[in-house]
Amino acid sequence: MNRPPSDPGSGLAARDRALVWHPYTQMRTAPPPLPVVGGKGVFLYTEDGRTILDGISSWWVNIHGHSHPALNAALAEQADRLEHVMFAGCTHPPAVDLAERLVARLPRGLTRVFYSDNGSTAVEVAVKLAAQYWINMGEPRRTAFVALHHAYHGDTVGAMSVSEDSIFTRAFTPLMFPISRADAPYCYRCPLGLERATCKIDCLGDLEETLAALADTAAAVIVEPMLQGAGGMITWPAEFLAGVRRLCDRFGVLMIADEVLTGFGRTGRMFACEHANVTPDIICLSKALTAGYLPLGATVTTDAVYDTFLSSDRTRTFFHGHSFTANPLACAVAVASLDLFREHDVLARVGRLESRLRAGLSRLADLPSVGDVRVIGGVGIVELVSDRNTRKSDGYLDGIGPRLSAQFLDRGLLLRPLGNVVYFMPPYCITDDQVDWALEQIAEVLTAVTA
Ligand SMILES: Cc1ncc(COP(=O)(O)O)c(C=O)c1O
Repeated sequence: MNRPPSDPGSGLAARDRALVWHPYTQMRTAPPPLPVVGGKGVFLYTEDGRTILDGISSWWVNIHGHSHPALNAALAEQADRLEHVMFAGCTHPPAVDLAERLVARLPRGLTRVFYSDNGSTAVEVAVKLAAQYWINMGEPRRTAFVALHHAYHGDTVGAMSVSEDSIFTRAFTPLMFPISRADAPYCYRCPLGLERATCKIDCLGDLEETLAALADTAAAVIVEPMLQGAGGMITWPAEFLAGVRRLCDRFGVLMIADEVLTGFGRTGRMFACEHANVTPDIICLSKALTAGYLPLGATVTTDAVYDTFLSSDRTRTFFHGHSFTANPLACAVAVASLDLFREHDVLARVGRLESRLRAGLSRLADLPSVGDVRVIGGVGIVELVSDRNTRKSDGYLDGIGPRLSAQFLDRGLLLRPLGNVVYFMPPYCITDDQVDWALEQIAEVLTAVTA
């Protein structure tokens, strides 16, 4: 058995426990952290000699594997040349190279790249751009944002504001700005009680009514296209995404696509917006942008948005920036990652991963505790319920999540269920045998839990 010690002992985990405060972690009750001292490909290596398969891509960021030789080389070469320079008034080759590559690969029409340094800041930038856009346009009444139920867009105050009202945000409600929320296409728990096989994407009606009610105060709609991540790994019919674009056009509001999770192949297309062939007005990128190596965010917009900021009046400037905006090391690794996509047909590999996940997970659908199995691109999802008829579950706070995590870790598999939602999202470089092994562990653990 690959079991971690239940007390932190005297090694890294104990030293960590003495001084460090971890994200989303109840420090009183959480087990000792996994002391990771190395990584290669899909594997992580711990101080106490365990080998763990990274089944969550280190929080959805890793795509080509840990410590990849080509990415390591790009990082080392860039560090030798220039590690960082401020980005107001300066530029550097990696930032420009990356902007050129992104614009060439993004949905057509997204042409202007604003860098920041993580997913939440990519969203903050999008929200602030949208707000100032309407001032630039001479329509200052347009300040209302619309998000979807189950949305998660990050942990900074603006990003929280446009996320679902949840345990993630509730303590900070007084700090946040009010928004409107509309139904998401959560087919397993359809907000209208319909079935996907026969519905006509009727759940779009709520967004339509919301935009109609906001009339000329609506500024933008923000969505996580095709896959709502932290809100429960909810996969979408592409028709809903197409409908969002249509409604934004009809009501004359901006569409913001938060592709922080979905970008760079995770849903099987380079960008999730491609599933419905839509171009948003603003797209947010981070996570796999640097293949999971370094923090970097990019918010990319159309000329139509960008042009409204151009003026001899300096008050029209976009007053936003970060010390590490467009960090050259991060940009150089991002460029090398895009090279890997081209050289190795990475998207074809994600396609094969998707087929394997579909085949492997479908046999779990009959387990009594399994409510729904869904797969998109390189993400396999199993939603657990305490009763299949009522579909009851305790959501994110469901105690089954941490219990399952511990059992997967015992078997050498790192997963972090979102409460009752178990998902497997490995780096794309995973081999078929490794996928099959991981799915076997998931099947055995879930079968035992069910029994
Ligand atoms: C869709 C989406 N947007 C934004 C974020 C925030 O990114 P970060 O954690 O880098 O701030 C996340 C993080 O999970 C995300 O999934």
